[in-house]
Amino acid sequence: MPPPPTVTLPPALACHLQVWRRQVAAAAGAAPRAGRGGDGRRCLMASAQQQQQQQQQQQQQQSTTSAGSTDGGQSGTAPINKEVISKHMDGRLYGYLVAHTREPPVLAALRAATAAQFPTGARMQVSPEQGAFMGWLVGTLGARRVIEVGTFTGYSSIAMALALPPGGTLLACDRDPKAMALAREYWEKAGVADRIDERLGPASETLDTLLADPSQHASYDFAFIDADKRGYRAYYEQLLRLVRPGGVIAVDNVLWYGKVADPAVADKNTEALRQLNAFLLQDERVAFSLVPVGDGIALCTVR
Ligand SMILES: C[S@@+](CC[C@H](N)C(=O)[O-])C[C@H]1O[C@@H](n2cnc3c(N)ncnc32)[C@H](O)[C@@H]1O
Repeated sequence: MPPPPTVTLPPALACHLQVWRRQVAAAAGAAPRAGRGGDGRRCLMASAQQQQQQQQQQQQQQSTTSAGSTDGGQSGTAPINKEVISKHMDGRLYGYLVAHTREPPVLAALRAATAAQFPTGARMQVSPEQGAFMGWLVGTLGARRVIEVGTFTGYSSIAMALALPPGGTLLACDRDPKAMALAREYWEKAGVADRIDERLGPASETLDTLLADPSQHASYDFAFIDADKRGYRAYYEQLLRLVRPGGVIAVDNVLWYGKVADPAVADKNTEALRQLNAFLLQDERVAFSLVPVGDGIALCTVR
């Protein structure tokens, strides 16, 4: 008969095994051998210490991972001491947040119309608290000229256009004529149609057309990117030339339903957003902050 294979157990497991053998022996009535009781206690203590160390390491990893340290964002491994609400947002708290969001009735009506006409695409629409945030941002910045890449049925464009001063304009890019038709209907209803410059077609071409006119360069105060995810990086580069220094480029979906942080997900859109986030983190041409509003927004102030 061949000799039994030799197996080297990890120290923690070996300790557990040793303690377990002693318990079995004690239950069977075997007398403890001299000196072994002390070994068992030492084993239990060592094992508890190891567990504690592992827990501490895991907690530290969770803190640093959630800060995106793999992209070089957080410096060092110091703990994040604040207990942030982002880690605890559930349906109940989100309901409370939306209940404390200002939303004009026309935008609530647009949510209903979008859900009815685009049952599968409606989830692309920005949420009420994000719309309120975008409007607040545009108003606070005093933006007069805004570009939107990805208008869909018009929710974010209306939220921003309502915050524009008299004479302000919003250039709305989308390639979907059916979605733009509903947007147009609601621009009228919201009383902002005269502020909207609608551009139907591929957004990269629209932005190239603008760039061909030098008077458009550095002439916009605010830009919002919310279209095809793999096109984001190219739109960002185009918009860096169209938005003035001190103006802001807001990039939507940078947390992408949580998929960017899930190592098991590797589809092309998720990868594109991961690469974009890593890039933005290091891009010295902008001041940068990522905020967990809606699906995550990267805010970039052009230097
Ligand atoms: C996420 S939705 C925009 C949601 C919108 N901001 C809102 O508040 O409802 C994305 C939109 O981008 C448009 N889109 C996707 N790829 C595009 C492209 N290459 N050029 C122009 N529009 C595009 C789609 O037609 C869609 O309407």
